[in-house]
Amino acid sequence: MEQIKIVASARQIPQRTVTNDELSAMMDTDDQWIYSRTGIHERHVVTTENTSDLALKVAQKLLEQSNYDANDIDFILVSTMSPDATSPNTAALVQAGLGASQAFAMDLSAACSGFVYGMSVATSLLSSRYRRGIVIGAEVLSKLVDWTDRTTAVLFGDGAAGVLIEKTDDAVGLLAEDLRSFGDVNGYLVAGRFANANAFSGEITTLDPFFHQNGREVYNFATREVPNTLTRVLAKAELTADDVDVYLLHQANARIIMSIAKRLGQNIEKFPMNMNKYGNTSAATVPILLDELRADNVVHEGQTIALVGFGGGLTIGAQIWKL
Ligand code: ACO
Repeated sequence: MEQIKIVASARQIPQRTVTNDELSAMMDTDDQWIYSRTGIHERHVVTTENTSDLALKVAQKLLEQSNYDANDIDFILVSTMSPDATSPNTAALVQAGLGASQAFAMDLSAACSGFVYGMSVATSLLSSRYRRGIVIGAEVLSKLVDWTDRTTAVLFGDGAAGVLIEKTDDAVGLLAEDLRSFGDVNGYLVAGRFANANAFSGEITTLDPFFHQNGREVYNFATREVPNTLTRVLAKAELTADDVDVYLLHQANARIIMSIAKRLGQNIEKFPMNMNKYGNTSAATVPILLDELRADNVVHEGQTIALVGFGGGLTIGAQIWKL
């Protein structure tokens, strides 16, 4: 076991909520259709902030809670599919805002698996030469949404959350992980395509910032492959599904989570959900849920929990932690 402790968690949610009824006034949809298929009632959308602003607020809260100084941080990882820009990376903007002069900072791109992939990188860094780091999932997906496309606009939201983690002598930490990528079916979920054209070429691809997905295929993928990933990670940890106290799954869709719980033979009570309030915030869903559950003491020290992301790439990541 890698002996690593989750010391603090924090979230930053934009103030403005957009309800299903508001969307119904903008496009041909309704609350009943959206809620019955996804479990989403409303989402939060930025009015002034960008991704780095949300991520910086999370990082500041993490320092406040843990009583560490910015100079105590060795690295900052931001998982995002909606950075402010490709360069500078979002994490560098957080590092500057925090004044974390000793920290290196980089972004990770693995869509809705991003936070779990970030935790994987962070635990590897902590098991080598680093002591303490910050991992944040931060998204402003509203800039990747075509607000006239009812098939995607109803699904996504903005938000950020993260954790401060460090090496420890306590008998806690990462028990096992299983990360998988399925690049052969990358086309099922795409967003943020640059134009590829230069003075020497014709246009190879055109600019298309918006989400496009094959919802049915993504649904089938998630309900088939996430249980397989969970079976693999539980076997690596030498645990059964019953041994996990709480499953924190990517909050894309309530029906996907209910199907996964059933496949594992687990009570749905062990799979808390909050997509009704936030929609799908990609890399931010798992840490937002983790922070809410820690605040409510539903997740606490002594438990065994699973963190599970799945989405664009396509990608899946699962970790089992002893808290
Ligand atoms: N309101 C009303 N009607 C709609 C809407 C809407 N917002 N969106 C689509 N429809 C219509 C479609 O046009 C279609 O109409 P038609 O039969 O006349 O052509 C009908 O509803 C059914 O469309 P489907 O796409 O077949 O609907 P489905 O039951 O598959 O639900 C959904 C769509 C919710 C996207 C589902 O496929 C799903 O949950 N997929 C998982 C994908 C997901 O969660 N993606 C998020 C990103 S990936 C991730 O995070 C894992």
